[in-house]
Amino acid sequence: MCGIIGYTGKSPCKNILLSGLYALEYRGYDSAGMALLDNKGFTIIKSRGEVSRLEEKMRAFHAPESSCGIAHTRWATHGEPGERNAHPHVVGKTALVHNGIIENFKEIHELLLSKGYVFASETDTEAAAALIDLYYSETGEPLSALSLACEKLCGSFAFAVMFEDREGELYGVRVGSPLLIGAGDGESLLASDTAAFPANIDRYIAMEDGGISRIFRDGFQLFDMSLSEIKANEQPLTQISRNTHKDGYEHFMRKEIHEEAAAVLKTLAAYIKNGLPDFSASGVDTSILKRLSSLHIAACGTAMHAGLFAKFLIEKFLRIPVFAEVASEFRYKEPIFEENTALLVISQSGETADTLAALRLAKERGIYSIAVVNVPSSSIAREADAVIYTHAGREVSVASTKAYTVQTALLSLFALHLGLLRGNICESEAQKFCFSLSRELPEKIDEVIAREDEVRALCLSLSQKESAFFIGRGVDAHICAEGALKLKEVSYINAQAYPAGELKHGTISLICKGLPVIAVSTQLSTAEKTAANIREVAARGADVYLVAPADFPQDGAKYIFSLPKATEPLLPILAATVTQLLAYHAALLRGCNVDKPRNLAKSVTVE
Ligand code: M6R
Repeated sequence: MCGIIGYTGKSPCKNILLSGLYALEYRGYDSAGMALLDNKGFTIIKSRGEVSRLEEKMRAFHAPESSCGIAHTRWATHGEPGERNAHPHVVGKTALVHNGIIENFKEIHELLLSKGYVFASETDTEAAAALIDLYYSETGEPLSALSLACEKLCGSFAFAVMFEDREGELYGVRVGSPLLIGAGDGESLLASDTAAFPANIDRYIAMEDGGISRIFRDGFQLFDMSLSEIKANEQPLTQISRNTHKDGYEHFMRKEIHEEAAAVLKTLAAYIKNGLPDFSASGVDTSILKRLSSLHIAACGTAMHAGLFAKFLIEKFLRIPVFAEVASEFRYKEPIFEENTALLVISQSGETADTLAALRLAKERGIYSIAVVNVPSSSIAREADAVIYTHAGREVSVASTKAYTVQTALLSLFALHLGLLRGNICESEAQKFCFSLSRELPEKIDEVIAREDEVRALCLSLSQKESAFFIGRGVDAHICAEGALKLKEVSYINAQAYPAGELKHGTISLICKGLPVIAVSTQLSTAEKTAANIREVAARGADVYLVAPADFPQDGAKYIFSLPKATEPLLPILAATVTQLLAYHAALLRGCNVDKPRNLAKSVTVE
């Protein structure tokens, strides 16, 4: 979603801000803008579309050499994605960029109209800028103005703010949307993400939710909403936390698929000791895990598909009910929490608004929470009772690939851990499975990736179609759901996933000659049943693409990707990598912008 970068320091900042915007591009946006502040006041430059267009415009316009500024990539929510609505918004002496949503902006609008403010855009952001300006004109003091404005604003938002008569100062506000401070030598920054900080910035501080910051060249101060100063928790900025290089790959999506084996290896190594699962690093309370009589899972999108995968395994190993629900539904449905239950939330970014809200709801109800998160210091990581980190490294491509693969591997290990803890699985069985996950899986993933050309060949025909089905049974149905999401997301082929047996209850009417049906069959127990479904669709003219072990039935399949020989529980994860490559190559052949699919944002920080 929207990206924020702000700078104050010893150097001219327009190029620093532009580089920050380029680094934030992956979050998804449709316009960009910058405000520079010097002793002559604000200079505002905005552009529809790519950051490169903003850069061209700035060059043509000879933007001033100021050393204090804020910049933004906007993902439109209120009003079309044109220059008029692009940030920064300037009202009176206040310039503001914003990530999030002001829910009561209409009410604020009314109030400000009555005070004589006029609005130039359709955004909720401009109302916030005007409100801050109103309080700034009344108090003459930035922190008070921000705190008073926040008292009135509802929603989730992060702001970077400048006041025209305070050159060299930036102000940050964090209410529900992430905002970080970068600290360097004689320069300080505000940003939505560490990726936006220049290489010489070596420390960062994740602002507390409900916090305000004042940023100077030589330092910063943090306050809560009542303006009591609070202590900063500085963290080192590592190369990993800002790595946004393609390392010779054409796209981040392909690079990240190619990193899967290493990411699985690294992640599982953190949770296996002496050949057995060991989650002590997560701080998870073992006594609660031992008592669980049910489990709830909430997540969104791809992370939800990892959650469904986990549900399948935990129910199988533990024989307790697991309720998995997309977080956007979970948070509004008044979930029923049984005794001895817990909530597991899964999120790559750790900032997804709905998942965070689900977590908060469970916490309010006194439910123990465990988060599977990839980004350290993210909101979800900070708020959950226990955090199991995936060490997948930064995922830049909007389409989640390596994060999913690592989540499925890690959740398999977690399910095993639960099974072992509760005596449902014996130690020797657990040791074998640990070995398969941590050693065999990375090797087999690399074997699949080494055959990428085979997957690309399958896409020559698939990429010419406008719709497709994915079918599979049991755990494979969840792999299909993720495969279909990936294909839709990056190639814009309308793909629907169905449990294979469900097709003939209605959807089979859509099967016609040449329609692609991608069948995933990895489990011996359901292989014959899925084979029967494949024959049914093939008999009606579908082009079946089969992803299955070489010794599974293949009748009816027109195209086949034979999975490498591997321990059965690993096969669905390998099939997922195949479907990710399928989506990638289909999108490429269709000329799509693989890393930045239209309308999508990497981290969905609004509901
Ligand atoms: O950061 P999260 O894992 O919480 O994100 C959840 C979804 O927005 C995300 O998985 C989305 O579905 C992916 N971009 C799809 O590839």
